[in-house]
Amino acid sequence: MALVFLLLFLFSLCLLFLPKRLWRYYNLCKAMRKLPVMAPPHWFWGHANFVEFSQSFATKAYAWRTENNIDINCFWLGPFRAFVMLHAPEHFRTVIKNPKSPDAYAMLEPWLGRGLLIENGSRWLRNRRLLTPAFHFDVLKPYVHVYNDCTDILLSKWKRSALNGETVEVYNTINQLTLDVILRCACSHFSSCQEKGKVDPYVDAVLEICNLSVSRFMNPVLAASNDFIYFYLTPQGWRYRRALREAHKHSEKIIKERKAVLMNEGRQERIAKSKLKCLDFLDILLLANKERKDGDGLSDLEIRYEVDTFVFEGYDTTANALTWMLYYLAKYPEIQEKCREEVRDVLRGRNQLDYDDLSKLQYTQCCIKEAMRLNPPVFNIVRSLTEDITIGGYYIPKEADVVIDIGGIHRSPNVWENPLEYNPLRFHPDHAKDRDPFSYVPFSAGPRNCIGQNFAFNEEQVVIASILNKFSLEIRDERIKQQLDFLPLVLLRPAEELHLKLTLLSQ
Ligand code: HEM
Repeated sequence: MALVFLLLFLFSLCLLFLPKRLWRYYNLCKAMRKLPVMAPPHWFWGHANFVEFSQSFATKAYAWRTENNIDINCFWLGPFRAFVMLHAPEHFRTVIKNPKSPDAYAMLEPWLGRGLLIENGSRWLRNRRLLTPAFHFDVLKPYVHVYNDCTDILLSKWKRSALNGETVEVYNTINQLTLDVILRCACSHFSSCQEKGKVDPYVDAVLEICNLSVSRFMNPVLAASNDFIYFYLTPQGWRYRRALREAHKHSEKIIKERKAVLMNEGRQERIAKSKLKCLDFLDILLLANKERKDGDGLSDLEIRYEVDTFVFEGYDTTANALTWMLYYLAKYPEIQEKCREEVRDVLRGRNQLDYDDLSKLQYTQCCIKEAMRLNPPVFNIVRSLTEDITIGGYYIPKEADVVIDIGGIHRSPNVWENPLEYNPLRFHPDHAKDRDPFSYVPFSAGPRNCIGQNFAFNEEQVVIASILNKFSLEIRDERIKQQLDFLPLVLLRPAEELHLKLTLLSQ
């Protein structure tokens, strides 16, 4: 009898809520039908089989948008998941304050957990406030020596190749360099990853996770299946778990070692360090963990979430930015030479830059910014609407997630003259002053902007300046020189290896 009542109760609940849900779904379909689409959606797959993560698809989509002057369009991934793509700075401004989309970021959650990148609400605010001091100017200043030391290792490796007449492969070696940097700066961990070999197992695992996360997100069946089914019953899930094990092993080892060091340091020493503002990022997390008595510190798992988030955000993004930058410098020798002249003017015979030198590298900064305009490492970000809105004259119900197309904004002909041309002088202060601040957002903007942007920008300047001071760069492969395709997989990566011929310069 009780069971009958329970079933009746559940049935009436369904009757109560179903019409509202159906009505919202009908509303969503009606609104989406009014938005431009590149192709009609399949009734079940939507555009899942149509959208490709490749440069050729991105180029096709870009041509379709520019020919038809489209700055907003929609696509479906499956019968229920609708996304609205926004390609204009004013749309960025309208929606950026909305929370991150749980659906889109869920694909990275098994790896990054509810760290700063994924978390929303009061927990995010607490952690952002806790970690902001780790990026204070006083903390960043001495890191310039770390960038220099790590770059010296890269320079020695590249010098050997240059003297042997070999080309160097850029993406993997730069990846190891930025991993070395972030581990030393954020976690005081010396990994020797640059010396170890061709590909670091951690770097490999991260690539595999990014790959599989995108392919799960794009597949309506895998995206809808719960984690247990995905991880234990699908071949893709088995691969994901293997890569996860490797990535988590790496961060757990770092935390364990650092904890042991902190245990050995006396309390007074730690307090003295914090007064000198030289606590690194992991120090701050572990000290917050120590103070957990008042219930507001971080648990061990939360610490791992943040370490995974910072190490990933801190190395892979910067490695991609640097790889694209080196590509453009090698492709345009006259720009490369102008940068080198500026660097040597600032260095005046020294080998390494100081913190105070960075503000003098104005042309080099323009070149870095222009590379991140054409190839922003984080090319799309996704938000969930908290209420229905009207944008660009279109009504968007809150059931649709919005994708802010940073890459599209950066290449929009409505914002940039000759948008596909690499022209660092666009960032000269005289040319940039009247530009809408939301037309250039490689680090996003607003309260959820990139916490590590100054860290990354300083690092990029040191690495580029040191390389240019030592070598001239050249691309021998004419096809790659004409065009190096990108592969949009969580980050905008080069689709092929980039090999540079280096010539050692006299100083
Ligand atoms: C060129 C290098 C970098 C680029 C282009 C970049 C870009 C971005 C962008 C666009 C976001 C917003 C993501 C979103 O809304 O979903 C972001 C967030 C974030 N970035 Fe970066 N980033 C870079 C380097 C770094 C570095 C070096 C660190 C750490 C040392 C870092 C840590 C973070 C964190 C923790 C967040 C989440 C912040 C929050 O939501 O409060 N990033 N980054």
